Amino acid sequence: MAFYINSYEQYTEDYTRALLNPEEFWADIANNFEWSQSWDKVLEYDFSEGRNQWFINAKLNITINCLDRHAAATPDKLAICWEANSPETPNRQYTYKELLDRVCQVANGLKSKGIVKGDRVCIYMPMIPELLISVLACARIGAVHSVVFGGFSPKALAERMQQAEAKMLITSDVAYRGEKVIDILTAARVAYQISPTAKQMLIFDRSGEGKTYPEQSFSDFDSVANAQSTHCPAEIMDAEDMLFILYTSGSTGTPKGIVHTCGGYMVYTGYTFANVFQYKEKDVFFCTADIGWITGHSYMAYGALLNGATQLMYEGVPTYPDASRFWQLIEKHKVTHFYTAPTAIRALMALGDEYVQGWDLSTLKVLGSVGEPINEEAWHWYNEQVGKERCPIVDTWWQTETGGIMISTIAGISQSIPSWAGYPLVGVQMAIMDENGEEIHSNEADGALCLKTPIPSLLRTTYGDHNRCKNTYFSAYPNHYFTGDRAKRDAEGRYRIIGRMDDVLNVSGHRIGTAEVENVLNQHIEIVESAAVGYAHPIKGEAIAAFVIPFAPVEDKNKLFAELQFMISKEIGSFSKIETLVVVTGLPKTRSGKIMRRILKKILANEPDYGDISTLLNPEVVEEIAQQVSSLK
Ligand code: WT7
Repeated sequence: MAFYINSYEQYTEDYTRALLNPEEFWADIANNFEWSQSWDKVLEYDFSEGRNQWFINAKLNITINCLDRHAAATPDKLAICWEANSPETPNRQYTYKELLDRVCQVANGLKSKGIVKGDRVCIYMPMIPELLISVLACARIGAVHSVVFGGFSPKALAERMQQAEAKMLITSDVAYRGEKVIDILTAARVAYQISPTAKQMLIFDRSGEGKTYPEQSFSDFDSVANAQSTHCPAEIMDAEDMLFILYTSGSTGTPKGIVHTCGGYMVYTGYTFANVFQYKEKDVFFCTADIGWITGHSYMAYGALLNGATQLMYEGVPTYPDASRFWQLIEKHKVTHFYTAPTAIRALMALGDEYVQGWDLSTLKVLGSVGEPINEEAWHWYNEQVGKERCPIVDTWWQTETGGIMISTIAGISQSIPSWAGYPLVGVQMAIMDENGEEIHSNEADGALCLKTPIPSLLRTTYGDHNRCKNTYFSAYPNHYFTGDRAKRDAEGRYRIIGRMDDVLNVSGHRIGTAEVENVLNQHIEIVESAAVGYAHPIKGEAIAAFVIPFAPVEDKNKLFAELQFMISKEIGSFSKIETLVVVTGLPKTRSGKIMRRILKKILANEPDYGDISTLLNPEVVEEIAQQVSSLK
């Protein structure tokens, strides 16, 4: 059976095969990878307990598949080409052989600092090769990486380090983002000091200043690595051993540590990278996501390398030095596959077509979109201005929890329609549920999007608390995994993602829990209670409106707004800042005291059909809030 899908007929044949006999199908796919020992059984699962396990008793190391295989077959092939924030900084390149050697040195360095299989290592770094190398070095020795996006605040980093009981933190002295130089080390230091399990810190000298540190437990990344051998035997892992934890926001409580394991994650990310993007040997892949999010994990650190791909890694922002930077990079590196988020497309679109015109984008073959629904206008701009109407666009829907792409067209093979993500991939069985929790069997449907059977990279648990995993994902619809999204399906079986049904916001493709924002707002001394609600925003996709009830009339609203923004950047990170502040005397509540965010959403969207509000505890506040909101416009 072929690993590559080469035609629409093959897609439908493979889809049917995987439906009828998933274990046989995934075993065939898995045989394209290198294992130290084969599995006894492909799949065991019980959704009622929130469990799924793949490739039982098989042994492997994912880095053998990402690095050693290619370093042996094509040692001089370029694995990574890195471009710095500033166009003046020379780029850095690693062939597969060089990348393997460096990963081994860093892996040995981790060992020299006492890291062993199963230990958790937190990585808090800008988009530099050392971030990717650190991830792979952990995987090499069986340490569990937990990458925390560099935009998170020290407090958010500490929370994640504490929950994961991280033994080490890897960071850099500074981060460059556009014009800004960010003192990331100070943030890392604060988090490190309040994380009792952390015993070592490795610091990459990004500024090149050669700083020294008084703390005994702090070491310079390169000095530690340079002293090591370029050989490091790969730790042989069980397929179900943890590969990494990645924290993500949910509708309630603190962020959840999503757990992915070695075997299934490798098979699924490797398979979907090759097929969705139709990546071919000489192609150059450019994903603009940060490795701090799942996209960077699955399709840069793992998916691309599993396929021996050449990729471009970029440190900076799309608009630095100006809005043509992406297009310059594509021309310079002859990029064939470009994968980005709708928010970036909209931001660049708003700055004008002149930035994208005049660059040679003729090498491009496939364009990808990820992270949030892509609106039609942005889709057409992407198609016309970037793809010159000759590159298929894959709108890939998936989640941190699914580890890999679930719904998408296949580049050049299935037809894409603006704002429709497309079809479930091979092995993916989606269901749409109605209000009564019953599956809608007719093709045309609209409701809660669920997964009926596991895929190899579906989350295994939430770190340290399996009940949370079971309750969050596997209890709303018995024997199904609930995605949290609402979707529509058309007569041809295509899916269109409408957005979250739960209290999760998606601001510029960043996932933020309303509860997290409210927790911060409520800490302000003048605020009694608050509600954070999302509303449509032309660039960000969704923006946050904060409705706050003050103890006493607010005298200086601008001051309050500035204070709240400061608190949010301190507690979470500036990407979670609010867009609009509405000061109110009450929030609409049910008789049991639950805030009706749905009504607030309707008010923000200027949709006055609030439904029956007479059963509310305080129906009178609805009109007052509506007036407040309209006076802001
Ligand atoms: C949520 C998952 C998948 C990697 C980045 C985000 C939304 C994601 C799409 C898409 C419409 C999308 C969903 C999903 N989402 N991709 N192509 N079209 N919505 O991962 O942070 O785990 O967020 O992002 O609402 O549930 P994440």
